[in-house]
Formats: sequence, structure tokens, C-alpha cells
Amino acid sequence: MENNNEVKRKILFSGVQPSGNLTLGNYIGALRNFKLLEDQYDCLYSIVDLHAITVRQDPTELRKRCLQLMSLFLALGLDPEKSLIYFQSHVSQHCELAWILNCFTYMGELQRMTQFKDKAAKHADNINAGLFDYPVLMAADILLYQADMVPVGQDQKQHLELTRDIAIRFNKIYGDTFTVPEGYIPKVGGRVMSLQDPTRKMSKSDPEDTFVAVLDDPNVIRKKLRRAVTDSDNSVFYDPENKPGVSNLMGILSALTGDSMEAISAQYDGKGYGVFKDAVADAVIAELEPIQQRYQKILGDKAYLGEVMTRSAERASRMAMRTMSKVHRKVGLAAYKL
Ligand code: TYM
Repeated sequence: MENNNEVKRKILFSGVQPSGNLTLGNYIGALRNFKLLEDQYDCLYSIVDLHAITVRQDPTELRKRCLQLMSLFLALGLDPEKSLIYFQSHVSQHCELAWILNCFTYMGELQRMTQFKDKAAKHADNINAGLFDYPVLMAADILLYQADMVPVGQDQKQHLELTRDIAIRFNKIYGDTFTVPEGYIPKVGGRVMSLQDPTRKMSKSDPEDTFVAVLDDPNVIRKKLRRAVTDSDNSVFYDPENKPGVSNLMGILSALTGDSMEAISAQYDGKGYGVFKDAVADAVIAELEPIQQRYQKILGDKAYLGEVMTRSAERASRMAMRTMSKVHRKVGLAAYKL
């Protein structure tokens, strides 16, 4: 029987900071899934520039990186007709909701956030209130759109749990207001590790040789992967505790090819790490090269970028306004029109 009722699609939200070279970790942990999930959800992908200024940024550099990240989102093959790709700062309701959610978040909760502790240690001269409040803005990003699904890497799990706690708390006080979101954290590749110290997360703020950047030249990618720290066993099998370097490379290969760890072991064990590392490099280059080519073209097309960012922000604002008017009503703020 034909069903004339339009089925409401679930909503997906994710954000990425425009704060430096995006890495293979960002790509495998999050960006790659943006494209893979695009057809199943109504998606919003935000360049979270307001999050980026919690640490000092050079204004000219930041502006440049924002446009670069937007071009990269589009180079992933995301369809701006379907998905909204926009700057967080262009939709003022993110901040508005963050303020309200601040009043429903406890200091103790924010003090427990490991990312805050890490960043505070790294930027000891600038432990500002924004850095502390960062997870509440992130909760606002997600709850503003009633998102069902949030694709992120493992390092954002704690922030996502806080978002859920805030939503549940608010709903308990005021009745059903926010959708409580689920995280989408890949089982393989949710935490890609540093190439030089595979017990640490791969991070864009670490030295160049510890990460592959999404925009690295293929020769550089191969060189970095060949130099990745492994061990002296010369055996390819998955054991993150005792063989973190090899296991990390296996994770990268498995995430990109879909091959299981067993299959990778069977194919490369006994062939020497050189052959194995080259296979990893081949897979990474095959994945990133087409994106890099599209990226260069898109970055040059300022009119197109402008059009996508404006239209997306307008559409996002309309969605945001619906949530904000509901929140105002629930909290008891006076109506705009009496
Ligand atoms: P950001 O900009 O640090 O990172 C972007 C995404 O990349 C993931 N990621 C990794 N995944 C696997 N292995 C790694 N080594 C690795 N490094 C980074 C991150 O988990 C993230 O998904 N707070 C967020 C941005 C944000 C956001 C949001 C995300 C703001 N508001 C709302 C989702 C929903 C952040 O700093 O990501």
C-alpha cells in the first residue's frame, strides 16, 4: 500500500575545528563517515570556528583555514543540496543555546573532562572560560538540531556522554524537549595513533612526522608511513598492547579497505614490514589523492563556497529557531510576540 506520509529522516550533526592540518585520524575517525552516512540521514556538518578560538588563533590564518576546511568537506563528495555545510559562527543560536545549557551543567562535570585537562596543561598561559565551557557549546551544537546521530572519533566520547546527560536532565525538568543523541564511533579507526609514538593519539598539534595530513603529497605520505615506529618482531598481527605500532597501521589499513585483522595478518605476515607499510601507504594514497584533487578545484571557486555557506547557514538557522522557540517557552522566557 502506498504511504503518502513523508517519512521523517533522522538527523545527523558533526563538527570539525578549523585548527590546523587535518590528519588521517580526523579522516578515519570522523570525516570519512560523513560521506558514508550522508544518504541515511539529514546531515549538518559544521566548521566549528567558535570552538577553535578557545585557544589563540591568528585571525588571518583562521579565516583561511575556515575556507580550507569547508573546501575539504565538499571535496569529500558531500552534496550541499542534501547536507548543510556551514560555519558555526554564522548561526547565532549555537551561542544562545549554549548559554541556556550552561545553567543546566555542573562545574564538577566540566572539571572531569579529559580534553579540558589536556588542553589546560598544553595552554597553561591561557586557561580561559571558553576552554572550560567548550563541551557545553558542543552540546548546544548537537541539541540545537535535535540530532539523532553524531559521528565522531573516540576522543569525543566523553563530550557526547555529557551532551546526553544535559539533554536527559533538561527533558526531566521541562518535559520532552531535546532528542538524546547517539554517537557513531567507528570500531576500527576510532582512535588512530601517532606514527612516532603509537601509545598516543594522532594529533594535528604534534610534530609533522607523527601524523599523515589529509592534504600531504603522496610522496610525503609514503615517507611518513615507511618511517612509522613498529617493533623488531617482523610479524604482522593485531596486538595493540604489545605491538602498538603495527596494530595502528593494521587499523588504518583495515578501516580503509574493510579487510579484517585476520585477513591482513594472513596476507602480510612473514613478508617484512617494508612490504606491509607500502601496502598501508598505497591504501592511504588511493583514498586521499582523489579528495586532494577535488579540494584544489573547490578552494579556487570562492563564489561556489560563498553560495554553499550562505544557503546552508540560512537553512540551519531555520531549524535552530524551531528548537530555540521551544526552549524559550519551556524555560519560561517571555514570548517575543504577546
Ligand atoms: P576535532 O576538530 O578535534 O576533530 C574532528 C574529528 O576527528 C576526530 N579525531 C580522531 N579520530 C580518530 N583518531 C584520531 N587520532 C582523531 N583525532 C581526531 C574527533 O573525534 C572528531 O570527531 N569537539 C570536536 C568538534 C565539535 C563537534 C561538535 C563534534 C564541536 N562540536 C558537535 C561533533 C558534534 C573536536 O574538537 O573535534
